[in-house]
Amino acid sequence: MKTAIISSSQNLNSKSYLLCKEVEKLLLEKGVEVVFIDGKDFCLGTYHKQTEDNKKVANLIKDCDNFIFGMAVYQYSFNANLKLILDTCMDECDNKLFGTLVAAGGQKSYLSYMDLVKCCMNEWRMIPLPRVVFCNSSDFEFNAEKTIPSQDLETRLVEFTNDFEKIGQKLLS
Ligand SMILES: Cc1cc2nc3c(=O)[nH]c(=O)nc-3n(C[C@H](O)[C@H](O)[C@H](O)COP(=O)(O)O)c2cc1C
Repeated sequence: MKTAIISSSQNLNSKSYLLCKEVEKLLLEKGVEVVFIDGKDFCLGTYHKQTEDNKKVANLIKDCDNFIFGMAVYQYSFNANLKLILDTCMDECDNKLFGTLVAAGGQKSYLSYMDLVKCCMNEWRMIPLPRVVFCNSSDFEFNAEKTIPSQDLETRLVEFTNDFEKIGQKLLS
């Protein structure tokens, strides 16, 4: 199984990036092949003003079996950089599984990820994993110089990864 993890936030201190990195580690431990895309490494254009990077990201993810999106909540929805990825990079993703890892400023934007589900289901008949990890800064601890997930968040990331891998494998068999 080849999974694309798309960390879409361009925030240097991104929390959703930390979720994506932790899930990458857990998937690699299960022997899953991971293509990790860090949104900070690319400068994407809009559909009508694309850059070289739009094609680079599209090429990286086009033969992946399934997807994990790291999203930042902006204005009660998903962040603009993720919208650019959806608009320009999602070739060959029809009917594939996707999971979502969400970072927000507070607790009240929990359902913001449903906009992403709506796009992926309606546009490409993608299948959403019915388990989402939602966090904000209170879900992290500071250990020496590192920001790490709290025990509760870590448990939710493990559950997410287990479900994603199990359902992902079943859909491929
Ligand atoms: C322009 C902007 C809009 C935001 N809108 C929301 C919002 O509607 N709801 C919310 O809970 N947090 C909101 N936030 C806070 C972010 O979701 C929060 O900083 C989160 O950590 C972003 O994810 P990241 O750390 O992966 O970049 C907003 C932040 C910015 C910069």
